Amino acid sequence: MTEVIQLKKVKKNFKGVPSVDLERLTVRKGEIYGFLGPNGAGKTTTMKMILSLIEPTSGSIEVMNTPINKSKDYLNYIGSMIEEPSYYPNLTGFENLLVFQKMLGFKKKNILKTLEMVGLSEEKNSKKLVKAYSLGMKQRLALSFALVKEPQILLLDEPTNGLDPSGIHEIRELIIHLAKEEGLTIFISSHILSEIEQIADRVGIINHGRLVYEGEIEKIKANSWVELEGEFDIEKLKALFGDSFGNRKIEYSSKLIKIWNINKERIANIISSLVELDFPIFRVERRKENLEEIFLELTKEL
Ligand SMILES: Nc1ncnc2c1ncn2[C@@H]1O[C@H](COP(=O)(O)OP(=O)(O)OP(=O)(O)O)[C@@H](O)[C@H]1O
Ligand SMILES: [Mg+2]
Repeated sequence: MTEVIQLKKVKKNFKGVPSVDLERLTVRKGEIYGFLGPNGAGKTTTMKMILSLIEPTSGSIEVMNTPINKSKDYLNYIGSMIEEPSYYPNLTGFENLLVFQKMLGFKKKNILKTLEMVGLSEEKNSKKLVKAYSLGMKQRLALSFALVKEPQILLLDEPTNGLDPSGIHEIRELIIHLAKEEGLTIFISSHILSEIEQIADRVGIINHGRLVYEGEIEKIKANSWVELEGEFDIEKLKALFGDSFGNRKIEYSSKLIKIWNINKERIANIISSLVELDFPIFRVERRKENLEEIFLELTKEL
């Protein structure tokens, strides 16, 4: 079984207004799936449907190969962080989880283990009441609520929202640990692209409720080009490069030359030729499309 979550032709309308319209979305076992999209794209709505918190207008959702409308047992295998859970501010993190444990009946020994995992078990933290928690600590406690029943799948809706860079870093490390060491499958949404880029194995990009891309993150980053900044004579460049430069895409002006998908040896040759022509060169840089650029391209209004 490699497909852990599968959505087929899932639509959600709110009072007749389409909000989500997903032809297909597939999350595989053990991967970190980054679910990216701008505000209002339909990320939270999709996650709530997977958790049976809202019902799709039409379509099918399967978790671990079982349609979720057949039985709700699958919820025992999913930990989620969608909205901030309501805590008891005058209790410690441990005590909050204890209340939760009494309601849900998971193993009590999981509590300490989970608090350790999210970094809330140290002496200085264990006595602190939740009302004295920093935002980062609250976020980690929310994550411990999701983890304490030892789920196989984690659904995290923008888990780093509002955190400072060190808080973001901690959560990111934890997510990688959970997927790579503990074997969890993680479905994580975000609009912070650079962050997803660093942790996800695959991404789905959603815009206006539709998936505009799903696949390997490396594949969409594969396009690279080399930029040469200097002072060039266009006529001489024309003579050097000809109209088409092999099959490669090339663009040049009197200040900048951009050549796509070119190897080191060819670049070295070009630099020698430019130097021979006495052109000053200030900068040579290999660049790759980042997810931000790809995202803007895919979600731009037509
Ligand atoms: N309960 C609701 N009633 C009516 N419309 C809703 C409801 N929930 C969501 N929507 C609409 O559905 C669309 C998708 O919303 P959703 O919250 O899923 O987006 P999102 O990608 O999570 O956005 P954000 O990044 O802001 O969290 C939006 O246009 C929103 O206004
Ligand atoms: Mg949302």
